[in-house]
Amino acid sequence: MTEQSPALDNLLTESRTFPPSEDFASRANATADWYAKGDEDRDAFWAEQAHRLHWDTEWSQVVDWSDAPFAKWFVGGKLNVAYNCVDRHVEAGHGDQVAIHWVGEPGDTRDLTYADLKREVSKAANALLSLGVSANDRVAIQLQMVPEAIVAMLACARIGALHSVVFGGFSPSALRQRVDDAEAKVVITSDGQYRRGKAAPMKANVDEALEGAESVEKVLVVRRTGDDLDAEVPWTEGRDVWWHELVDGQSEEHTPEAFDSEHPLYILYTSGTTGKPKGILHTSGGYLTQAAYTHNAVFDHKPGEDVYWCTADIGWVTGHSYIVYGPLANRATQVVYEGTPNTPHEGRHWEIVQKYKVSIYYTAPTLIRTFMKWGADIPAKYDLSSLRVLGSVGEPINPEAWMWYRENIGAERCPIVDTWWQTETGAIMISPLPGVTSTKPGSAQRPLPGISAKVVDDKGDEVGKGGGGYLVLDKPWPAMLRGIWGDNERYRDTYWSRFADQGYYFAGDGAKYDADGDVWLLGRVDDVMNISGHRISTTEVESALVSHPTVAEAAVVGATDPTTGQGIVAFVILRGGAEGGGDEAIQELRNHVAKEIGPIAKPRQIMVVPELPKTRSGKIMRRLLRDVAENREVGDVTTLADSSVMDLISSGLKTGGDE
Ligand code: WTA
Repeated sequence: MTEQSPALDNLLTESRTFPPSEDFASRANATADWYAKGDEDRDAFWAEQAHRLHWDTEWSQVVDWSDAPFAKWFVGGKLNVAYNCVDRHVEAGHGDQVAIHWVGEPGDTRDLTYADLKREVSKAANALLSLGVSANDRVAIQLQMVPEAIVAMLACARIGALHSVVFGGFSPSALRQRVDDAEAKVVITSDGQYRRGKAAPMKANVDEALEGAESVEKVLVVRRTGDDLDAEVPWTEGRDVWWHELVDGQSEEHTPEAFDSEHPLYILYTSGTTGKPKGILHTSGGYLTQAAYTHNAVFDHKPGEDVYWCTADIGWVTGHSYIVYGPLANRATQVVYEGTPNTPHEGRHWEIVQKYKVSIYYTAPTLIRTFMKWGADIPAKYDLSSLRVLGSVGEPINPEAWMWYRENIGAERCPIVDTWWQTETGAIMISPLPGVTSTKPGSAQRPLPGISAKVVDDKGDEVGKGGGGYLVLDKPWPAMLRGIWGDNERYRDTYWSRFADQGYYFAGDGAKYDADGDVWLLGRVDDVMNISGHRISTTEVESALVSHPTVAEAAVVGATDPTTGQGIVAFVILRGGAEGGGDEAIQELRNHVAKEIGPIAKPRQIMVVPELPKTRSGKIMRRLLRDVAENREVGDVTTLADSSVMDLISSGLKTGGDE
């Protein structure tokens, strides 16, 4: 393993545990005996979970793993995912229950009941059909957190089209790459978005992305910022259609068709170790089963009682599984918030929790650390007594942040569930159960009932208690990815080749067992960085840098960052003769990366260096660069082709960044 997170140091000394209260445990959805049930008869366990959904046709086999690593779950079963998330709740008499309390950044609000949602999704489904979208077509969605984003996803699911949601902060070229790879027929976006109190254009970026994009026939545009946007919304006649003009007039009736359990549901792109993002493919029955099961068990969600809030963006998998599919399948009432946590003030989240009496709150460690920085006096001003379960996802949560969360948000009363999973796993895999587990600050603890995971050494043998190594998933699970869009070979290579002999899925994370056998995640072991819980590959940023005319070579590392988990630090060699190294040139490079990939990939720091440390075979030694980036004494340099390089780098550093 190349990298260890600071959590490791605490791990050796961490001995605090927090059992659930008797009251919580006695009412909990999931109980301790589920672990044994999941182990003894996995098929029966998952069949029981699948029965939480409505199936038009029952399956004949729970899982078919004969064509591994391509799984089939609930073979022969048929269902409609959108019907399960919307219609059936209305039919069961819950049409008046609020599905979404939406809060716009400027302060406008909208409540959608399940009956409203059914109408909106049906109209949007009819609208997509009228644009010529049919089952198996791909629809790209780049939208901020507005209700139409959720409606659009469900409308796709309803008609069997695949959505590919692209995070709103991604650049035009990142959007284009994804649109082309999936050959999207329709793109759904908005005129503009509110960000920190200002209206910023969105459609203009999409237009830039789509210039010459051959697959795209129609662009559907949600009006959000309207007159608040200074600039004109660019318009292509014949291609562009306003959402309100097309959708509002559609029929509210749409009969959902039942699709095969393995019918594709969506593609979601995620960074890999190469520059090209991977289109992770998810299908219907197994995915929805595990999303609904985990949302119920891990958050102890009680439909009609709880008010749930997941602060993720639908551009990431957490938004897919824990804003759209899991919660809606479980008839949740949830908060969806459009804006940033400090607009217009740093108490915004707590104000919303107080107003809507949020009882389950699911967020990311990077945000918890930001709240810590802003100060405990801010949440203290609000009534947070409605909260009863707190969740964390996206990166290892350091024990300090965990304890702060527990004390200042959870009033030392709410169980904290640290949930480990990935875009590829589709749903939560390792997490405490809030009414069962005695939680430990910083540990994701144990695979959920029905899930199997192991920490193994280099050879694939499970390590003992106290031992560290690689996290693997040794048995197929319902929400597992079904492949990488258009690239089966890359799918095998990326996930199944490292431990091919054992048939294990290799997650890319390092992990460790403690003395009790609980799992502690230790961060990525590959060249993927984790910036505020977002995966960005070092190669992606390196390619963006070398695409700038002044850059000859670049190496990028993720350096420990107190707020964002990791920060991007780049080392660049400028081209012969290129002027550079000044503050302005470095700013220009940082902006260039933001433009190529998106603001989330903007390097925290860029250092201009005369050479990069390489092994004799030409491999860049990131470990040494990380030492420099983290201001550490540079480690062992004996494998370098030229051991004086590090002195050159350390002595001649010109750095920039750190806004
Ligand atoms: C990391 C997000 C430690 C991990 C759902 C994983 C975590 C990657 C945790 C997936 C956690 C996610 N503890 N690390 N609780 N949750 N990770 O695909 O490195 O955006 O491989 O999915 O985030 O990121 P992704």
